[in-house]
Amino acid sequence: MVNMSGAPQSVDDLLQSYAVGPAPVVRANFVTTLDGHATGGDGKSGSINSAADKQVFDLLRALADVVVVGAGTIRAEGYGRLRTEDPAMLELRRSAGRSDHPVLAVVTASGDLPDKVLEPDPGAGELLVLCAAAVAHELADRLGAEAVIPCGADTVEASVALEALRDRGLQQVLTEGGPHLLGSWVQAGVVDELCLTVRPVVVGGTGPRILEAPIGTGPLAHFDLHHALAMDGDLMLRYVAGRPGA
Ligand SMILES: NC(=O)c1ccc[n+]([C@@H]2O[C@H](COP(=O)([O-])OP(=O)(O)OC[C@H]3O[C@@H](n4cnc5c(N)ncnc54)[C@H](OP(=O)(O)O)[C@@H]3O)[C@@H](O)[C@H]2O)c1
Repeated sequence: MVNMSGAPQSVDDLLQSYAVGPAPVVRANFVTTLDGHATGGDGKSGSINSAADKQVFDLLRALADVVVVGAGTIRAEGYGRLRTEDPAMLELRRSAGRSDHPVLAVVTASGDLPDKVLEPDPGAGELLVLCAAAVAHELADRLGAEAVIPCGADTVEASVALEALRDRGLQQVLTEGGPHLLGSWVQAGVVDELCLTVRPVVVGGTGPRILEAPIGTGPLAHFDLHHALAMDGDLMLRYVAGRPGA
């Protein structure tokens, strides 16, 4: 579907565009500038996003059981545990039988996580840490063993992490980044969808792009366009994993 009217979309319209079925889906959501940057000059994506991007961002969170975020993004963006503040999104979660707040699953090899995300936050969503085995013991001392999931010796294997989440009943997986996590997950072939907001700005400089991975001789992955929506000048794209040449 291509809708270039540019008009803001209602929650119901957006829901139709972004709905997922009952089967488990791994979705990634990112924002980029026209010149391909994933952040503004301050090193944060908040300085390049918009009201329309936030609307889709909130909806995608509302459709997720768990939001998976790399430790670099947790540190850069100052993530805490997740809360659903918007009454419409809360209603959406409740009507689908989801918990009020998505689980936040942090991916780290070093175990170097800020207090803001480690400290208990009553009323917010649960925290899980998907980590390298080497740091699991130390994290479990602080968070409790049930919150810490070793997913590889020195790194976090995507397939191990996703299986562990599904074992906990967390079927609908959203990753909000960042670029190294997306790179490793695309390389592992586990990303079913890429939702991308293209903002009509350029920022210059040499900041990160949405995906960091070693370059190969051909594309790392192929995606097919599910929809393109123009909202207030932004382009909201939903791509699904495709086959080379399809
Ligand atoms: N435009 C957007 O939509 C968007 C979205 C997200 C982030 N960002 C921006 O991206 C920047 C951060 O980039 P980044 O690449 O550092 O983010 P990142 O991928 O969130 O963080 C990288 C770190 O996450 C952990 N990690 C990721 N994948 C791993 C794996 N497979 N195994 C083990 N650990 C893994 C490691 O943490 P340890 O170092 O703890 O081992 C690694 O150093 C920030 O400026 C942020 O604002 C932009």
